[in-house]
Amino acid sequence: MGDSQKVVVYIMPQKIQKQRYKDMMKAALRHHFIMAEELKDSVTHLITEYETAAQAMKVLKLTELPQHTRLLRVSWFTDSIKAREPVPVQDKHVIAQGGDAVECNQASEPTVQSPVPEYSCQRSTPLKHHNSRFCEAMELLQDYAEMREGDDNYMRALAWRRASCVLKSLKFPLTNIDQLKGAKDVGKHVEKVLQSILDHGTSDEVEKVRNDPWYKKMKIFTKVFGAGTKTAQEWIEKGWTTVDEVRQNYTKGDWRLRFGLAFHEELMELVTRLEADNFTKFIKHQCETILPGISVELCGGFKRGKTHGHDIDLLFTHQSTGKEVGFLPRLLSVLESKNLILCGKWNRGTYTEEAMYSDSKRTKNNQLDHFEKWIGIIKFPKKWRKSISEEEFFSDENVSADLNSYEDSEPAKKKLKTNELSPEDIAAQSRSWIARRVDLIIAPYDQYFYALVGWTGSKQFNRDIRTYAKRTHNYAMTSHGLYDLTKRKSLPAKSEKEIFDILGVPYFPPEERNC
Ligand code: CTP
Ligand code: MN
Ligand code: MN
Repeated sequence: MGDSQKVVVYIMPQKIQKQRYKDMMKAALRHHFIMAEELKDSVTHLITEYETAAQAMKVLKLTELPQHTRLLRVSWFTDSIKAREPVPVQDKHVIAQGGDAVECNQASEPTVQSPVPEYSCQRSTPLKHHNSRFCEAMELLQDYAEMREGDDNYMRALAWRRASCVLKSLKFPLTNIDQLKGAKDVGKHVEKVLQSILDHGTSDEVEKVRNDPWYKKMKIFTKVFGAGTKTAQEWIEKGWTTVDEVRQNYTKGDWRLRFGLAFHEELMELVTRLEADNFTKFIKHQCETILPGISVELCGGFKRGKTHGHDIDLLFTHQSTGKEVGFLPRLLSVLESKNLILCGKWNRGTYTEEAMYSDSKRTKNNQLDHFEKWIGIIKFPKKWRKSISEEEFFSDENVSADLNSYEDSEPAKKKLKTNELSPEDIAAQSRSWIARRVDLIIAPYDQYFYALVGWTGSKQFNRDIRTYAKRTHNYAMTSHGLYDLTKRKSLPAKSEKEIFDILGVPYFPPEERNC
């Protein structure tokens, strides 16, 4: 505005945490703000954390402000730091004159509804929200803690994620830490990071992790299909820094890793919604001939409204329980006959009712289930990457499939043994397809709606709704069902809504389960 030279700022230290005050002063100096060390007549912008003018004046021992001084909220200062220069004063920045020292609850900024429902499954969490810069930072810290393993870090990771979920569900952008008063899951450490981002746009703690060489490598390696934190750690210990280096030196590993490494670049490229829809359409069409009445649902991130994902999750069921038996091997045969399978592993279902309440079988994050499924990589025709007509889509499907060849075999093993080409050789070929990760899951109808909730996610939503079920009702919840541990009986459901009703959680559609 040209008159920035005239801006003289004084920040009242009262009510501001010492370290934060220091950080604010540092930021001000960095951007060459003119700072006064006390309230003088020349001060134009008087910044305070007090909520009313009366409170501030009392501390300043004044009855009136100097003629050219305006009393402003800290938000004016943080907005200015973000802009790297003093910003014009807006209404929201101004602390009105008058007002009673006792009445200090008239914050003009929105605050969380109080009390914030404790579990993320009780809150609407949309995909697009107002606080991504905070959530990105907290989920980076979550990610880091998760990679470091051990129980402490696992708890730390969950704490960052829970805090991030609180911010994701806010209906407004966070501008002041006080807006989080009454919110669970926001502890001192979280506050510190958020405050720093509010004040400086970044947090030292977050930036340190972001630039940590170990973290950077872990981040790259754990993205390889089949590589968990253990494998990634092993590669780092060998001194490898890029996937290429791993590829050149690493010969061990199961089929997952071998294909994951060979097709890494392609698999890193995210699956688009259009690709997922096309694939679903194709599978549905095949189902009509293989087993009429089988239903196919695109789950996972796409169901929650994401436009991109790392894979395609398809959940199958048949309304008459039992009819789904034998379906998946037949579908796989068809896909194989059409040369659509690169590699994969078919797992039989291992569900027993006991599995539902025996805690020992459940993993820390409750992610394992016992469904019959296929996890693998599809040779995804490049022409399916764009919008295509029905005729074009199903034109070349006159291959007759050997419907029984999969009955008792493991596709992946078969593939690796009989195929003479190595994954690297296949990847190097000129081809009309790209590699796409696909999960195919079969759920018997009496477990279907639990499977639907489970495979829709998000992962954090599942964690929370399961914890909620256990703590408030002593129910064990999995993707197979809900089990009353007190009465030792299962609670069947005929829709997703019914599951929420049984639990006493308000129903949120998949698009609002993006915790
Ligand atoms: N899931 C599960 N059991 C597994 C794997 C996944 O219950 N063995 C659940 C996850 O909790 C998630 C959903 O299935 O809610 C889909 O998993 P995944 O594809 O890993 O995650 P998405 O949310 O779909 O993310 P993306 O879009 O990246 O694929
Ligand atoms: Mn997915
Ligand atoms: Mn998946």
